[in-house]
Amino acid sequence: MCGIFAYLNYRVPRTRGDIFQTLIKGLQRLEYRGYDSAGVAVDGSVKDHAASISLYKKTGKVKALDEEIYKNNSIDFEAELDTHFGIAHTRWATHGEPSPLNSHPHRSDKNNEFVVIHNGIITNYKELKKYLVSKGYDFESDTDTEVIPKLIKYLYDNRENDYVSFSTLVDVYVCVIVCVWVVNRKCILFLNRRGSPLLIGVRSQYELSTEQIPVKYNCGKSGSRHPSFSSTCTSPQTFHDRLAVEFYFASDASAIIEHTNKVIYLEDDDIAVVVEGKLYVHRIKRTAGEDPVRVIQTLQMELQQIMKGNFKAFMQKEIFEQPESVVNTMRGRICFDSNTVILGGLSDHLKEIKRCRRLIVIGCGTSYHAGVATRQILEELTELPVMVELASDFLDRITPVFRDDVCFFISQSGETADTLMALRYCKQRGALTVGVTNTVGSSICRETDCGVHINAGPEVGVASTKAYTSQFVSLIMFGLMMSEDRLSMQQRRLEIINGLKKLPELIKEVLALDDQIKSIADELHHQRSLLVMGRGYNYATCLEGALKIKEITYMHSEGILAGELKHGPLALIDKHMPVIMVIMRDACYKKCHNALQQVTARQGRPIILCCQDDPEISKMAYKTIELPHTVDCLQGIISVIPLQLISFHLAVLRGYDVHVTSTNLPKSSAFVSSVHRIFAQKSWR
Ligand code: G6P
Repeated sequence: MCGIFAYLNYRVPRTRGDIFQTLIKGLQRLEYRGYDSAGVAVDGSVKDHAASISLYKKTGKVKALDEEIYKNNSIDFEAELDTHFGIAHTRWATHGEPSPLNSHPHRSDKNNEFVVIHNGIITNYKELKKYLVSKGYDFESDTDTEVIPKLIKYLYDNRENDYVSFSTLVDVYVCVIVCVWVVNRKCILFLNRRGSPLLIGVRSQYELSTEQIPVKYNCGKSGSRHPSFSSTCTSPQTFHDRLAVEFYFASDASAIIEHTNKVIYLEDDDIAVVVEGKLYVHRIKRTAGEDPVRVIQTLQMELQQIMKGNFKAFMQKEIFEQPESVVNTMRGRICFDSNTVILGGLSDHLKEIKRCRRLIVIGCGTSYHAGVATRQILEELTELPVMVELASDFLDRITPVFRDDVCFFISQSGETADTLMALRYCKQRGALTVGVTNTVGSSICRETDCGVHINAGPEVGVASTKAYTSQFVSLIMFGLMMSEDRLSMQQRRLEIINGLKKLPELIKEVLALDDQIKSIADELHHQRSLLVMGRGYNYATCLEGALKIKEITYMHSEGILAGELKHGPLALIDKHMPVIMVIMRDACYKKCHNALQQVTARQGRPIILCCQDDPEISKMAYKTIELPHTVDCLQGIISVIPLQLISFHLAVLRGYDVHVTSTNLPKSSAFVSSVHRIFAQKSWR
């Protein structure tokens, strides 16, 4: 999750030292998103070289970049600059390993004519790179981003007779691009937003003379040329009569709020340009019903609230982040072109893991459920016995552990005491230890031999949600990596990899059912108990759903293995007992159908999570929540989301506070410490 921050002061004198501090502080506000390297570009920082743009880049934490800059003798930190710009970036490696060369900003040429920071993925960068290389451009990094400054230079240098626009050439997934260049010693800053958020903070000592910026449409003569190259064709947008202004640009309001609460949120496909202190907003074409102005809003929120966005609670925000967080877990690890999976933090130990006698997966709460959810597919893909253990019970039993065991420690925080004690126990017995955590630099991360960062982003809500689905995906990726050379498994692997590729879209489909799910919660919130039943791949969903319900709604809830129904739990079923059943189209479908018959025979009124278009099930259900279908071993990622949502709505309806802040609950201290600890310690890749 890259972070973007830029700062521009126009006729507001600031020292070079202040400017660097603003940029570094902006990056530090974005550290919580996770990153592996950082960089800044500023204009004319080198003495006797006033017009050029200088780049400073460093692998590792922002503090290291800060130290590097302050060690540089050629920078005059006392120099006062009336007008100046700087752009800054934290990079999360996707194309090319973390290194200064691969860090942003990237440049068009050795003179640093155009300098770019970027957030997102350029899907057609290989084709663009090939084309630009054929035109004589030399590339210095392995990134997709570097094609942007080079393409911009190419279009700029050929602008008189070139009728293709930058936007039509670059195929982006979700993206924010910030580019600066200096023409006749005047800096031009250009921003393009698509998918990823981008906002602009405005600060001035004078009263702002306008509350909105008009959008300019189709200003190039050819109608297709990129507007930034012809920005003088629009009337300037000044904020006050005496133009002296500072602009802050960031991918996240948390980096802006300490400077100003006046902000403009850019819309998708907006192109903002700042020339000589004036801000322009362009769009290529106008679509019906769209707002032709961008309003300057006054943020009333505190930093904490901003980080929570429009959601009522962090838990809700984190549930809705899952289409993005699962992508971040897979990013740079699964290559969907070659169908290969590489977990860099495990590759050095892969041979040893393949030789082991068994896998032991250990965790607490939700993290334990991630092990239960993936046990079957791990057994299938690794052909090894897999034990899944609750850390406390594992220790209570003084479980025998041997040198040829491989023990996985699953933990969002990387600090849970039982899991940590189980890790030390296994280490003493000579087993290879593997961490699967969301917190870089955590105790589990430091004390294990190797591991996988799940990269879900900080989880502030006390109930684990996005970490569960990311742990799930991480363990599946491990199974895929272990089975790469098994010929007999290629078909199955392909099916799973294709399923993982489609996962974000399917998660979005489930999240779109939120209103329907809330209406079910409306009906259930006065109940005293709620049973959740399923089997096979969806048993873990039942355990996890019931845990969420207990943990945040204070309602009794039990996850029941449907195969065990006849051995006791059936006695609980009658028309008054609320029951949720998970019945998906997989190898257990018929068996689940039997369980459903037992429930309805006792006048139970089940709410069923089932696949779309399953009339057989719908007929017998009191209510259904129809979910998109995916590969059997991934279905649990889809089926758990309605239960996360139900538990959230039940908690709100029952009057419990799910508004967790980073100061009042233990989990949040793990979040705060995760921010401070990023890169502080040893880190797996
Ligand atoms: C606590 C939380 C659970 C969480 C468990 C394990 O009990 O309430 O939601 O699943 O800890 O946490 P970990 O950080 O190790 O995943």
